[in-house]
Amino acid sequence: MRKVNMGVLGAGGIAYRRTIPGMMQAKNIQLSAVMDIANIEKIAGEFKIARYYTREKDLLEDPEVEAVYIATPVNLHLEHIRAAAEKGKHILCEKPITGNPAEAAEAARICRHNGIIFQEGYMMKFHGAHRKIKNLVESGKIGRIVYMRAQLSCWYPPIAGAWRQDPGKGGGGALIDMATHLYDLLEYICGSGISKVAALTGRQVQDYKSEDSSTTLLEFSSGTQATVDAFFCIPDEASKTRLEIYGSMGSLLAEGTIGQGSGGKLEGIFKKDAAGYDAIQSKDEALSFSDIGFDQVNPYTAECEYFANSVLEKKEPGINGLDNSLHIMEVTEKAYSSYKTGRILTV
Ligand SMILES: NC(=O)c1ccc[n+]([C@@H]2O[C@H](COP(=O)([O-])OP(=O)(O)OC[C@H]3O[C@@H](n4cnc5c(N)ncnc54)[C@H](O)[C@@H]3O)[C@@H](O)[C@H]2O)c1
Repeated sequence: MRKVNMGVLGAGGIAYRRTIPGMMQAKNIQLSAVMDIANIEKIAGEFKIARYYTREKDLLEDPEVEAVYIATPVNLHLEHIRAAAEKGKHILCEKPITGNPAEAAEAARICRHNGIIFQEGYMMKFHGAHRKIKNLVESGKIGRIVYMRAQLSCWYPPIAGAWRQDPGKGGGGALIDMATHLYDLLEYICGSGISKVAALTGRQVQDYKSEDSSTTLLEFSSGTQATVDAFFCIPDEASKTRLEIYGSMGSLLAEGTIGQGSGGKLEGIFKKDAAGYDAIQSKDEALSFSDIGFDQVNPYTAECEYFANSVLEKKEPGINGLDNSLHIMEVTEKAYSSYKTGRILTV
């Protein structure tokens, strides 16, 4: 099988922790070179990557590199997308594509103008449990999807110079950084686009400019309703990262699947017929949820393989492509605007 020769632009953060190890397991990728402004010799040595650079220019002029994974701070994405696209390199770029819709539109224009295959790093869609949930939803096992809830929180204290803590650099805080993963994931699961959005954002605990709190209310074109909660001020061990999908014939409940790993737990209840009315409403009785198995998939390996496959087949990625990036960016911008204006906004 031919492999795509990839380079990494910004190798020291999530790239170092998750994506490079995941990419190195991808069957259709050869990781040829890495670049970062800091610690790159050490990173290259650790992953045994022969070519490493401290200037993006050198990575992008490396003739062997056909495609790049961009994992730099969000305020640098547009500049790095432009530089890579102008050198004809296909792009797997971390989420969010940029910090605001105007920059996202410019990034999309540049990629399209240069014929670049672009994929964004919303990798949670590749998690085995989320794929299983999607299959069960599509097969009608829980009937019509009426409500979904997704949660992603962490403890993110003030760190000097952290770009996420300055909206001028990150585009915002917990909402753009984490809630957007969940907007994207819920659309994927229910197979319908977000059509209405309203959000609360706030700075409750952490002493920085970006919001540490966000709760989003969503309606999908199908009529399904959802809430997404994403906070930077809840201890990691205090949140089970719950994902709950409720339908007219049952439910699917997951814990620990939203995140960067492959594991977690999934259970569900499937009714054979539409439920009769139970006037007793015995909510305190033991409920018989069944455990549901799923493939243990490294979502970073899977997203990289998916991207490389699109490059090899010279086609737009079916998921996480530019249209999806622009749509999620619009939802994000409207979520922020809804709080400022106190209105539910149509997407
Ligand atoms: N999908 C996920 O699971 C996930 C998780 C975390 C972060 N992210 C995304 O990844 C991106 C990076 O986030 P992070 O947490 O790794 O940030 P980070 O600050 O930890 O790491 C960014 C890296 O970019 C490097 N860098 C800075 N300026 C550079 C430049 N001009 N050229 C090359 N390298 C440069 C830094 O030295 C650092 O190594 C963001 O878009 C973020 O939202 C995605």
